[in-house]
Amino acid sequence: MHKPLARLAILLSGRGSNMLALAEAVRAGVLHGLAEVAVVFSNDPAALGLDAAAALGLPTASLPSKGRKRESFDLEVVDILREYRPNYVVLAGYMRVLSPAFVRAFAGRIINIHPADTHQHQGLHAYEWAFDNRLSETKITVHLVDEGLDTGPILAQEVVNLIGADTLAEVQRRGLAVEHTLYAETLANLITGAAIPTLPTHNS
Ligand code: GRF
Repeated sequence: MHKPLARLAILLSGRGSNMLALAEAVRAGVLHGLAEVAVVFSNDPAALGLDAAAALGLPTASLPSKGRKRESFDLEVVDILREYRPNYVVLAGYMRVLSPAFVRAFAGRIINIHPADTHQHQGLHAYEWAFDNRLSETKITVHLVDEGLDTGPILAQEVVNLIGADTLAEVQRRGLAVEHTLYAETLANLITGAAIPTLPTHNS
C-alpha cells in the first residue's frame, strides 16, 4: 500500500530558487512519491517565486504583509495555509520572523534552510558574513523552526568549500548549489523518518 504524499506548503518572499529545486525534486527527484506541493505562499504578491510556481502549474496564494502587525498577519496566514492541509511548512527565503502563534499552529512541522551554521550565525546576510570574514567554508543548515531566530533543532548540515571564492556572487553560487540538494534530501529523510533533529548549542 502506498503512503499518502506529504503535503508541502512552501513559503517564500523572493526569487524562489529553493522552491524550484524542491518542486523539481517532487517531480522527478528524491521527493518523488513522497511529497507533493500543496501550495506556494508569499507575503509579497509581486515575489518572482510566485510567478515561477504558477508557471509550473503549482497552486499559489499570497497575502501582503506590508504595514501589517506581525501576529494578526500570521494568524491570517495560518488560516490560508490550513485550507491546503499541509503536513510541513517549508520556509524557502521567507523574509519574516514567525510569531509564536504561527509556530504553535504548525509546531514541529516548520522547516527552514539557513546559509550558515546556525550555531555561528543567525538571521539575515549569512553569505555576506561568510564573505566579509573570508571564511574558508560555511555550513548550510536545515532546521526545525521554534520560537527563536534560527535556534531550532538541526536536521542536517553540509559544508560548502569557500576556498578561492573571491566574490560574494561566487560564495552564493557555491552555497545555493548545496542548498538546492540538501533541502530536498533532508525533507525526504524527515518524511521517511530518517532525519533525527539535534538541539543546537549556541556559542553566545
Ligand atoms: C536562501 O539563501 C536561503 O537559504 C535563505 O534565503 C535564500 C532564499 O533564496 N533562507 P531563494 O529565494 O530560494 O533563491
